[in-house]
Amino acid sequence: MHKFVPDWETARGVIFVETLTTPVTPAAVRQNARRDDGAYVFHHPPKFTWSNVALPPLAWNHYSLYLHVPFCRAICTFCTFERTQYSKSSMDAFFDALLDEVDLREQSDDFTQATLDSIYLGGGTASLLSNEQISQFLGRLRSGFGLHDDIECTLECEPGTKREDDFREVRDAGVNRVSIGVQSFSDQLLPALNRRHTVATSYRTIEAAHNAGFSNIHIDLMYGLPNQTLADWKFSVNEAIRLGIQHVSVYRLIIFQDELLARKLGQGELQPPADAGTIEEMRRYALETLPANGLRQYSLTEFAKPGNECIYVQRNWDGSDYLGFGPAAYSRHAHHLWENTVFHHRYHELTDDHRLPVGKGITMTPHECLARDVAMGLCLLSVDIAHVERQSGASLDEIFGRKIAQLVDDGLLRRTRDRIYLTDEGLLYATYIMKRFTA
Ligand SMILES: C[S@@+](CC[C@H](N)C(=O)[O-])C[C@H]1O[C@@H](n2cnc3c(N)ncnc32)[C@H](O)[C@@H]1O
Ligand code: SF4
Repeated sequence: MHKFVPDWETARGVIFVETLTTPVTPAAVRQNARRDDGAYVFHHPPKFTWSNVALPPLAWNHYSLYLHVPFCRAICTFCTFERTQYSKSSMDAFFDALLDEVDLREQSDDFTQATLDSIYLGGGTASLLSNEQISQFLGRLRSGFGLHDDIECTLECEPGTKREDDFREVRDAGVNRVSIGVQSFSDQLLPALNRRHTVATSYRTIEAAHNAGFSNIHIDLMYGLPNQTLADWKFSVNEAIRLGIQHVSVYRLIIFQDELLARKLGQGELQPPADAGTIEEMRRYALETLPANGLRQYSLTEFAKPGNECIYVQRNWDGSDYLGFGPAAYSRHAHHLWENTVFHHRYHELTDDHRLPVGKGITMTPHECLARDVAMGLCLLSVDIAHVERQSGASLDEIFGRKIAQLVDDGLLRRTRDRIYLTDEGLLYATYIMKRFTA
């Protein structure tokens, strides 16, 4: 089993990126690619360089907003997101503290020129918020935070936590996109993951969202699961297509050391996932089948019908500003990156004490900022050179000119006057390529 080193994260948690185990590139790349064998979770600059930060008051312009709801009905065996067991009382207490955090942020920063691009209600399980809480939170953002009615607003749902009437209510409150954690359309695979729902529940939740008028439905699917066969995976991908889903995220299972799944596998309680060759076939099947059916790949893990690409995901990876609320939520403002405290009691203590619940952070140098924006930007398959230079205040050629030329020579990147692109082969070595910029 691999030891996965978490050294990058996004505002909502982690990016699931992977590389091939069977290299086909030049020798130098092959050696390094082997070292990258498997899937990684990234963060840059690395978390050990972060420290307690005192942020200056910030002026927000175009930005996205993320809410981290840190509760789940059950704890999935594979998941390392910041979350704890749901109870109504802890959710209600959290929601009160959250409204305090929103007030504190409004008082501390300047939102007079702010325009929100997108909102993502995630977690944990954001769909455990009551409809009233969702409506109240979005209503609160309408005054002072630059929220306009037509912006993308996603609610992340665990199957079975919202019904058709609920979807109608949250739609009236301003939610216009739902992201449903289906994971698999094969019932026999879900118990090993400790999912609380069946496949029938996933179908019902998708149908309920559709009947309530949602025309931008996103589902998460995972491959490389214990006991999953290539046929199971093909069935899941084909079901997403048959159901007319507008946006599919395709994640290869990452097994984190010390998590429940790793322990169960270690003790022989579960069948290990398929061999690397089969997992690679699974990945290729999604990469070929989804685009052939109108779901274009626009990131390493995301596929969408034209016009249904998630704005929040794109803003998160293209170096734009985003503001996170809730425990463990990440924020980015120009060169500042920070994380809210991950400890629930501390989150309550700080908000009770009228202090923003900020934990650790870092102010990036222009070099660090450029490295982050190029590497994370490549998650979107290509990077706008002028944009990352403007964001970071650094010159791409001065800092990375030689590295890029080498990666172009190796056939992993393609460069035009305005952009750098992952080639088809580069797609297979994304982790290796990103690390060339962040190492
Ligand atoms: C915050 S969760 C989704 C929403 C909701 N909590 C649910 O599970 O239905 C985000 C997604 O990350 C993916 N994910 C979480 N942990 C993962 C892991 N270890 N490997 C691969 N994908 C993972 C799952 O597909 C999951 O649906
Ligand atoms: S419900 Fe979602 S966030 Fe919660 S433990 Fe499972 S995968 Fe993680």
